[in-house]
Amino acid sequence: MEPIPVKFSQTTLTELMIPSYANFGGKIHGGILLSLMDKVAYACASKHAGAYCVTVSVDEVEFLQPVDVGELVHLRASVNHVGNTSLVVGIQVTAENVKNHAIKHTNTSYFTMVAKDDDGSLVKVPPLRLESMDEIRRFIEVIKRRKLKAEANNKMQKEQSNFVMAEDFPLLRGQRCETRLVGDDDHLNDLFAGT
Ligand SMILES: CC(C)(COP(=O)(O)OP(=O)(O)OC[C@H]1O[C@@H](n2cnc3c(N)ncnc32)[C@H](O)[C@@H]1OP(=O)(O)O)[C@@H](O)C(=O)NCCC(=O)NCCS
Repeated sequence: MEPIPVKFSQTTLTELMIPSYANFGGKIHGGILLSLMDKVAYACASKHAGAYCVTVSVDEVEFLQPVDVGELVHLRASVNHVGNTSLVVGIQVTAENVKNHAIKHTNTSYFTMVAKDDDGSLVKVPPLRLESMDEIRRFIEVIKRRKLKAEANNKMQKEQSNFVMAEDFPLLRGQRCETRLVGDDDHLNDLFAGT
């Protein structure tokens, strides 16, 4: 398979934030932005793969600033990494004030997609041609992010399987919760006294 340059599938989606996208506070629902991100990730990944793609996982969704009704949201998507059947699409989301053209960065997120054929079987995707230092950096960052995520997942799994209530309940101290066990566990309330 011939490598395909990153720029071949780079995709930009611009959407006007209309009043029906707003929450009761007058700001845009996070779910609207997530849906647009999924759409642009699909377009970008499918173009590179030459096949339908589905979303497998989403990393680093943290809305840094609220988006207002009337703003133009720009979503810029690039394939940052490809594996055998998977692609990681980096998406930068900005919101533009149409009156003064001020731009604010709302988030950068990473969607992992896999390519499938018409029967739903996974298909191999073409390699990626990296043509700039930024493209090389982004490809390497995906490798590093995956390694860190796998390490964090392993640690968390170990924590969950080694969970010992008596050792861990002090972590509740200073937290904004109260423990009032009911039913079969109510005899344990003494254990939590003072947390
Ligand atoms: C994702 C899915 C194909 C994985 O199936 P699987 O039998 O575990 O397949 P594999 O282990 O061979 O993984 C396939 C690829 O997905 C990647 N992958 C699987 N799970 C992943 C995860 N949680 N995060 C990132 N990548 C993942 C693998 O690394 C592999 O990549 P590669 O081929 O580039 O090496 C399967 O779980 C699926 O179809 N999920 C539903 C996806 C979907 O329909 N999304 C739409 C939302 S409704």
